[in-house]
Amino acid sequence: MPLFRLIYFSENHLDTSKRVTPQLSAILSISNTNNRRDNITGALMFDDLRFTQALEGERDAVWRTYARILEDERHRGVTVIDARAVEKRLFGNWWMGLAQRNRATEQAFVRTGFPGRLDPQTLSAERILGLMVEIAQIGLERELRAA
Ligand SMILES: Cc1cc2nc3c(=O)[nH]c(=O)nc-3n(C[C@H](O)[C@H](O)[C@H](O)COP(=O)(O)O)c2cc1C
Repeated sequence: MPLFRLIYFSENHLDTSKRVTPQLSAILSISNTNNRRDNITGALMFDDLRFTQALEGERDAVWRTYARILEDERHRGVTVIDARAVEKRLFGNWWMGLAQRNRATEQAFVRTGFPGRLDPQTLSAERILGLMVEIAQIGLERELRAA
């Protein structure tokens, strides 16, 4: 079965009356459990308006995961922007990493052309992937330095 990668955008419908961090942690926690089981890797980015996520793995497993994600009421308007067979994984060490915008990663966001919010009108799958991979790399370097 070929390796496959899917990227989508969606509208953030997290509960705005509650803190964001625990809601995101819940998503990442179930994602890590399920994705490890299904051998899916990837990254999730978000802001107050949108999510964008990359999922990679065996093709059927990716589509099965996507089918569950599609039904999730924590977001709406899920739209695939890229889905293709690929040669290799880009997030081999992340079952589901949070590509977070913070002090350590801000430079990467600006340099790769993400001045403000995630914008499906202007952001190509290629640029999203480029940024996600760069942030995964920053995360890895920080882990290594901390070790
Ligand atoms: C933005 C977003 C990203 C998600 N990413 C994943 C994911 O990568 N893997 C996954 O299994 N579930 C993911 N989920 C959660 C699924 O929608 C769903 O709640 C979960 O897979 C159900 O798992 P369960 O059937 O084991 O309870 C995500 C949900 C949201 C809102």
